[in-house]
Amino acid sequence: MYSAEQIAERVGELGREITRRYPDGDLLVLGLLKGSFIFLSDLVRSVNRPLQVDFLVAASYGDQMESSGNVRLVYDPETELEGKHILLVEDIVDSGRTLSRLMDLLTVRSPRSLDICALLHKHVDTHLRYPVKLVGFDAPNEFLVGYGLDHAENFRHLPYIASLQ
Ligand code: IMP
Ligand code: MG
Repeated sequence: MYSAEQIAERVGELGREITRRYPDGDLLVLGLLKGSFIFLSDLVRSVNRPLQVDFLVAASYGDQMESSGNVRLVYDPETELEGKHILLVEDIVDSGRTLSRLMDLLTVRSPRSLDICALLHKHVDTHLRYPVKLVGFDAPNEFLVGYGLDHAENFRHLPYIASLQ
């Protein structure tokens, strides 16, 4: 669906946009594990301003088969969020439930700004109550794998993004 070259070019553009968007203040790039690990590592290397990196691990409980929106943090960043620009980095936005709950949880920690950067956006979101300010690609409504995205924990290592269909 997206070659390694296409991804690299788009990630470079996103990095330059992030550099422009945050002319001052502390910037904390928060990666949502595990799916964002490759995207985040390429993305931060294309940002040309000081920043910090931390990660979030979220788990939804309730129905195991689809994201229920009942999200709790399994790993909570130890870095202080108050007063900082927070950029939450996600691999793909589908229903947007996970992201909505995480944004609620992070908002109450008084960041200076809080925005979402997603590599892929399926635009089927009926549950996302926040805008996704930075999007890599508008994705088709198919199941995608590679470049961090998995199917049952497989395919994350592929340097490109493919559809399982
Ligand atoms: P949401 O809460 O429904 O938006 O779920 C988003 C999460 O589901 C993402 O962080 C991914 O881990 C996973 N996901 C959604 N769509 C895909 C896909 O096409 N491929 C791989 N994982 C996906
Ligand atoms: Mg996953």
